[in-house]
Amino acid sequence: MESELQQLKEQAEEALQNINNDQELESFRIQYLGRKGGVITGLMRRLSSVDKADRPRFGALANSLKNEIEQLFEQKKNALGAGLSTKGASDIDTSLPGRFLPFGKLHPITQVMEEICSIFESLGFAVAEGPDVETDYYNFEALNIPPHHPARDMHDTFYVTDSILLRTHTSPMQARIMEKQDPPLRYIAPGKVYRCDSDITHTPMFHQVEGFLVDKQVSFADLKGVLTSFTHHMFEKELALRFRPSFFPFTEPSAEVDIACVICEGKGCRVCKKTGWLEILGSGLIDPEVMRMVGYDPDVYSGFAFGLGVERIAMLKYGIDDIRLYYENDLRFLSQF
Ligand code: FA5
Repeated sequence: MESELQQLKEQAEEALQNINNDQELESFRIQYLGRKGGVITGLMRRLSSVDKADRPRFGALANSLKNEIEQLFEQKKNALGAGLSTKGASDIDTSLPGRFLPFGKLHPITQVMEEICSIFESLGFAVAEGPDVETDYYNFEALNIPPHHPARDMHDTFYVTDSILLRTHTSPMQARIMEKQDPPLRYIAPGKVYRCDSDITHTPMFHQVEGFLVDKQVSFADLKGVLTSFTHHMFEKELALRFRPSFFPFTEPSAEVDIACVICEGKGCRVCKKTGWLEILGSGLIDPEVMRMVGYDPDVYSGFAFGLGVERIAMLKYGIDDIRLYYENDLRFLSQF
């Protein structure tokens, strides 16, 4: 009995292998699975004439054969429906090497972000992360930007409620950390930030790495030293740095830092807007008012802070002349890194 069922199974498999269209498949269904006169139905009917003692075993075997044939039938139906090859197993060359799935890689911005963090870690900075969805208090007020301050204009963002928003910079991490810890402090805070911006050097979502150091007698010279050392490590050469006086409500004095445009080597191109320089970060000495708000005495402590744009660094490092390329998800672009 078992050999009869095995033979039936082999016949059905062979028949299915030779099927190449829907008509042949339908004939197969009628022949094997049809309710009237189908081979499997016939097999089930024979159950009653089988010896009582053998009936349970025969029933179980017949049922499993029925399931197997139904499954094979469905597979064939799907293969035909999807227009897949219906060649028999004998046509498959099993000696051909397998196809490997390509390995994924870290996104170039993640790679640059990791490199930036590891350089600052080697300079003694600890890493801290904070929320992308931030309160108005930490994003603005704790940084000396009260409601209606004109500096808010440059930080237009997406609001969840009137007092909760997608953070526009990583600077809220200064206040979050300082209010919990006493100096000396030396931190970097990498993360995503959001603004209503889009052109060849701006994207609505981008990454910053905030850095700050608070101790006694910290000066602008310390800030310059750390940033110069970072830039030389990052670009593996002594690129020129330009500290341009600027204004941030949470630092005094403030400076924006440009580096010589590596795309045109300072000659002037569309990325550096013909200036030969590209802004990579904002920085300054932490404003005494920010210190007071977290309970530090500005007569005892001083500190510097900076916030650098990761995409800008990545543009300069790899000579990319449009920041938006990083976010178009074109594998031809991304696989180069
Ligand atoms: C700030 O965001 C300040 N929080 C930086 C700071 C920190 C100043 C600590 C003082 C002390 P700013 O808006 O300039 O500053 O942005 C900092 C850097 O982020 C810029 O130099 C630029 O490299 C990058 N950046 C700004 N907007 C975008 C954008 N839309 N797309 C990509 N990069 C941007």
